[in-house]
Amino acid sequence: LTAENYPDVKRDPRFAHLTDTDLAFFRSVVGDKQVITDSNDLAAYNEDWMRKYRGQSKVVLKPKSTSEISTLLKYCNEHLLAVVPQGGNTSLVGGSVPVFDEVVISVANLNRVRSFDETSGILKADSGVILENAESFLAEHGAVFPLDLGAKGSCFIGGNIATNAGGLRLLRYGSLHGSVLGLEAVLPDGTIYDSMHSLRKDNTGYDLKQLFIGSEGTLGIITGISILCPARPRSVNVAFLGLESYDKVRETFRRARADLCEILSAFEFMDRKSQVFASRFTGLPHPLAGEDNTDVPDYPFYVLIEVSGSNKEHDDAKLESFLESVMEDETVADGTVSQDETQLKTLWRWRESISEASTMFGGVFKYDVSLPLPKMYSLVDSVAERLKEKGLLSFEDSSKPVADAIGYGHIGDGNLHLNVCVREYAKEVEEALEPFVYEQVQANRGSISAEHGVGFQKKHYIQYSKSPVEIQMIKDLKKHYDPKGIMNPYKYI
Ligand code: FAD
Ligand code: MLT
Ligand code: ZN
Repeated sequence: LTAENYPDVKRDPRFAHLTDTDLAFFRSVVGDKQVITDSNDLAAYNEDWMRKYRGQSKVVLKPKSTSEISTLLKYCNEHLLAVVPQGGNTSLVGGSVPVFDEVVISVANLNRVRSFDETSGILKADSGVILENAESFLAEHGAVFPLDLGAKGSCFIGGNIATNAGGLRLLRYGSLHGSVLGLEAVLPDGTIYDSMHSLRKDNTGYDLKQLFIGSEGTLGIITGISILCPARPRSVNVAFLGLESYDKVRETFRRARADLCEILSAFEFMDRKSQVFASRFTGLPHPLAGEDNTDVPDYPFYVLIEVSGSNKEHDDAKLESFLESVMEDETVADGTVSQDETQLKTLWRWRESISEASTMFGGVFKYDVSLPLPKMYSLVDSVAERLKEKGLLSFEDSSKPVADAIGYGHIGDGNLHLNVCVREYAKEVEEALEPFVYEQVQANRGSISAEHGVGFQKKHYIQYSKSPVEIQMIKDLKKHYDPKGIMNPYKYI
């Protein structure tokens, strides 16, 4: 979809159009090779991961240092050139790509680990370090990044902070609002905000770094991060379970919290439909399938539980006794436990591959919501029902725009992912879903974005989760730090 598909979104006439003089200036700052103008090379920066949103930027800049970013932003601010900060471009809300011809500033070349303190566990790094690279570096030093997600091979740690990503470990390590200790960022006028602290405690005034966590590129460009990394667990185990109802998923979670307590590190749920997608996509036999039949069994729900701790014997015993108890009283119908690292990764694949599998028919409308646990799954049923009633959904009939509506997510965080897997990005499907989904979420006092952010997709819907006073305060902050509105326009607020 391009801006033309959204007639209510107009290019802001205050913004300047790119000139040769601008390009010459950019080249003088970052060098010829770091100024991308070739239309083939631009394509990957203009289109998002879902292939849902496409902008028309004419230039991507790839600075190598904070001071280069400062010079570039100062120039763009003075010349009223709108800017989109870009990390790994894995945003799921159309936040990382331009809408019109904004200048893209990629932090891909800011990719060094600056320091790691093994005693405190504090990592300092550039914002363009790929999450998986940060994780591998930390593994060598007996530590773990307090965030993990399916896009780890592509997303950057700066992008994670800019979106306040949640992911698969939030249940254990909490949100980035707690683990980020300091940041370095460039404000829209080029001012460098340097707060790369190593302090666990600092109560001297407002905690300014929090403003940038989840700011989605609207206040400045994050260039460095200081983050507290926990000790790496010595033993990790995964159980993959089949359950007969959503109530049993909730009951299993309640019991896991109580019985597995400090070693519980993830509790993820998936409906059967999501497993059918993952099965088609990966071509693997399902972990709970029988010997002769590789298909996804008939359980309506599946759960992946990860435990991690410091003593394998102790952790294994705890997991075993938990599983015995939930299977004995038939809370859980079936299950398997990883026996080694390879099996552990394979079991995780049945959860992590759902994102990609959801796009295999052509595209996906994604809703990432927080809801009270008892009511969480019913949203998937009501959306599927609505799409069927409107004659838009059929898994078998390829003339229908929607293949299916699937649900999965982070039960431990009260976060449902509802993916409406489509054969095309049809406007009638979007209109059937929005604001319907947001109204359901508001009626249950949930959040229309648990972890993916607002971006372009939810810009018009923030009032479903924030009050007029909150919206005004956000607008005031934006106006104060970005008075010309050059940072990531047409999004967020
Ligand atoms: P981008 O996509 O490039 O940018 C995201 C936003 O941040 C944009 O608004 C951009 O302008 C801004 N931005 C990026 N870098 C900077 C910077 N240095 N300074 C200022 N602003 C910046 N999210 C979750 O929360 N949990 C998940 O489990 C999860 N799993 C995912 C799995 C897959 C397969 C995919 C594709 C995405 C997933 N996401 C998940 C989405 C998630 O938001 C991103 O993966 C990630 O946090 C974004 O990082 P990025 O570097 O790709 O940022
Ligand atoms: C996930 O939990 O898998 C992510 O948030 C990404 C997604 O929903 O596609
Ligand atoms: Zn998620």
